[in-house]
Amino acid sequence: MENKTFYVTTPIYYVNDLPHIGHVYTTVVADVVARYKRLMGYDVYFLTGTDEHGLKVEKAAKEKGMSPIELADKVVENYKQLWPKLYIKNNDFIRTTEERHIKGAVALFEKMKENGDIYLGKYKGKYCVSCEAVLTEFQAKNNKCPDCGKPVEDVEEESYFFKLSKYQKKLLEFYEQNPDFIQPENRRNEVISFVKGGLKDLSISRTSFKWGIPIPGDEKHVMYVWLDALSNYITALGYPEETELFKKYWPAKLHLVGKDILRFHAVYWPAFLMSAGLPLPKTVFAHGWWLKDEGKMSKSVGNIVRPQYLLEQFGADALRYFLMREMVFGNDCNFSDEAFLSRLNSDLANDLGNLVSRTLSMISKYRDGKIPEPDRNSEIYKEIESLAKTCGVNWESYFDTYQFHKALAEVWTYLNHLNKFIVNVEPWQLVKDPESTDKLDTVLYVLAESLRLLALYISPVMPGKSQEIWNRIGFDRNIEESPLSFLKFGVLESGTKINAVKEHLFPRIDVKEYFKDADNQKQKEEKVENDNRISIEDFAKVELKVAKVIEAEKIEKSNKLLKLQIDLGDEKRQIVAGIGKKYKPEDLVGRLIVVVANLKPAKLMGVESNGMLLAASGEDGEPFLLAPEEGAKPGYRVK
Ligand code: MSP
Repeated sequence: MENKTFYVTTPIYYVNDLPHIGHVYTTVVADVVARYKRLMGYDVYFLTGTDEHGLKVEKAAKEKGMSPIELADKVVENYKQLWPKLYIKNNDFIRTTEERHIKGAVALFEKMKENGDIYLGKYKGKYCVSCEAVLTEFQAKNNKCPDCGKPVEDVEEESYFFKLSKYQKKLLEFYEQNPDFIQPENRRNEVISFVKGGLKDLSISRTSFKWGIPIPGDEKHVMYVWLDALSNYITALGYPEETELFKKYWPAKLHLVGKDILRFHAVYWPAFLMSAGLPLPKTVFAHGWWLKDEGKMSKSVGNIVRPQYLLEQFGADALRYFLMREMVFGNDCNFSDEAFLSRLNSDLANDLGNLVSRTLSMISKYRDGKIPEPDRNSEIYKEIESLAKTCGVNWESYFDTYQFHKALAEVWTYLNHLNKFIVNVEPWQLVKDPESTDKLDTVLYVLAESLRLLALYISPVMPGKSQEIWNRIGFDRNIEESPLSFLKFGVLESGTKINAVKEHLFPRIDVKEYFKDADNQKQKEEKVENDNRISIEDFAKVELKVAKVIEAEKIEKSNKLLKLQIDLGDEKRQIVAGIGKKYKPEDLVGRLIVVVANLKPAKLMGVESNGMLLAASGEDGEPFLLAPEEGAKPGYRVK
C-alpha cells in the first residue's frame, strides 16, 4: 500500500533580514503542496522555521547593536506574524536556537563521528560570509563567491572535517537509482556533474566565531552552520529520539529549496544522512529566483519586494495566486507591478469574479436564489461534466508533478469555457421561453456545480476565496475538510439556497491609482525598514528606577544566577540576575543599581524574579553594572 503520509519542508530562513517575496514564495509553495496533499487524503506534516546561528547573523546583530538572540527574537516575530496572514498552515516552526534542535544536531554530529566519518584537521581556504559557504581557492576565483559575487575572506583554522569524499560514489549511485530525488531535471544534471567532478572532505566546525552550537567535547569549536541548519528537518521530528512523529514522517517527501541552496540539500544533506544511517528524503525540488524588473533583488539597489503592502492592498489569495501562476516552477521569474495587476484584473476579477457574479445573479433572478434540478442525461449536463472530468485529471497530474502554473492554467481553461458557454447558451433568452425551463434549470445547475468544483481546484492556492465561493453558492462545508468524494461532478444538491452577495469576489484594480498609492507606500515602507528608532512614548512605557541591593545570594545549581532582595523606595522586591560569574553576592549588598520595575514576573531556575537589573554587555557577554551617581535614592525614576 502507498504510504499516505507527506512531510514537506521549507528552508529555514536566516534571521539577518526581514521576510521578502522570495521567502514568501517557498513558504507559499510548501503550503499549497500541503493543502493539495491534505485534499487528496494524505496525512501531512509541514515544517518551516528559522536558521539563527552563524557568522552572518552574528555580524548583522553587531551592526544593529544587538545580541544575536535579540535580533533573532525580533525577526522570528516578524515571520510568525506574517505566516498566518498568508494562510500558511504549518504544523511546526523550528528555531535552531531551541534546546530540542541543539540536542538533535549534537546527536547527529556524534552519530557521524561514531561511524568514523569525522576527524580533526586544519582548514585553510576561503569563506563567503553571505552564503555561509566554505570555498576552495579554485571556487573563489578572484576572491569572489561564485554564487553571490561578494568578496570572500581568507581563513585558516583547526577544524573538524566530514569525510564527504567517501560518499561520492554512493551519492552518484543514489542519484542514478532515484531519478526523482533532484528536481527539476536540469538542476539534477548540474548536481551530478558537480559530484562527478570530485568531492573534498567538508569542514564542519569553526573556531573563528562563537555564535553557534558548541562541538561536544571541544567547545572552542562551533558547528558549521549548514550542518546545524540541515539537521532541523529531523530535529523537529524529535531526532535522536524515536518519536511517533519521526517514525511516521521521516523520510521527508519533499524538501523545497531555492536553486542557490540546492547543493547543500542534494549533496551534503544526503551524505550526512547516509553517514548517520538514516533514510534519505524522496525529493529535493529547487525553484528559481524572483527577480525585480529583470534584476536580482538586493538591499543596496533598494528593489526588494516585501509582502506587506501587497497583502494589505490585495489580500493573501491574490498574492498567492500570482506567485503560483506567474512562475514556472523551477525557472526564474520577473516580479513586476504590471504583471501582478494584469493577473489580478484579468484572471481574478474578470474571468473568475465575473463567472461567480453572473452565475449567482442569474440563479437569484431566474430561480429565486435556489439551485434548480438538472436533467443529468441531457447533452448540456454531459458536456460540462466531461469538461470537469478532463480538467480534474490534468489538474491532479500537474499538481502531482509540481507544475503549479499548468494546473492553474488548466482550471482557467475550464473556467473560460464556462464564460463562453454562458454567452452561447444565452440564459436571458431561455428564461423568456416556457419550453426551455428544463434547459435553463440544467444550465444554472451545471454552472453552480462547476463553481463548487472550481473552488475546490483552486483551494490549495486560494484557501480564503475558495471558501467564500462555497459560502456564496450555499454549499455549507469547510473546504479544508473536503472529502475525496467532493472532487466528483454532481455533488451540489438542488434546492440549496445561495447567498447572493453583492460585493465582487475580486474588485478590479484601478491601475493609475495603484501606482500613485504604491509609490507613497513604498517610500513609507523603506523608511520603516531603515529605522529602528522608537518614539518617546514607547520609551516611557519602560519604568526604570534606582534600587538598593539589601541581600544577595547564589542560586544553587546555577553558575551565573544570583537572587537579590532590593529596596525600591516604597517597596521591597526579589529579582534574579545573571551576573554571578563576575560579581560576588557579598560585594553587591549596599550597592545602588538601576532596574526595570514594570517587567512581568518570570521564573528563572524556579526562582521568581520581579524586575531586571541593567548592565552593559561586553565582548563575551561579560556584565558591567549600571549605577547612578552618589546622592540618588531608591525609587528615583530614570528617564
Ligand atoms: N538559512 C538558509 C537555508 C537553510 S535550510 C536548511 C538560507 N536562508 S535564506 O533566508 O537566505 O534563504 C531562504 C530561501 O529563500 C532560499 O531557498 C533562497 O533560495 C530563497 N530566496 C531568497 N531570495 C530569493 C528570491 N529572490 N527568489 C526566490 N527565492 C529566493 O538560505
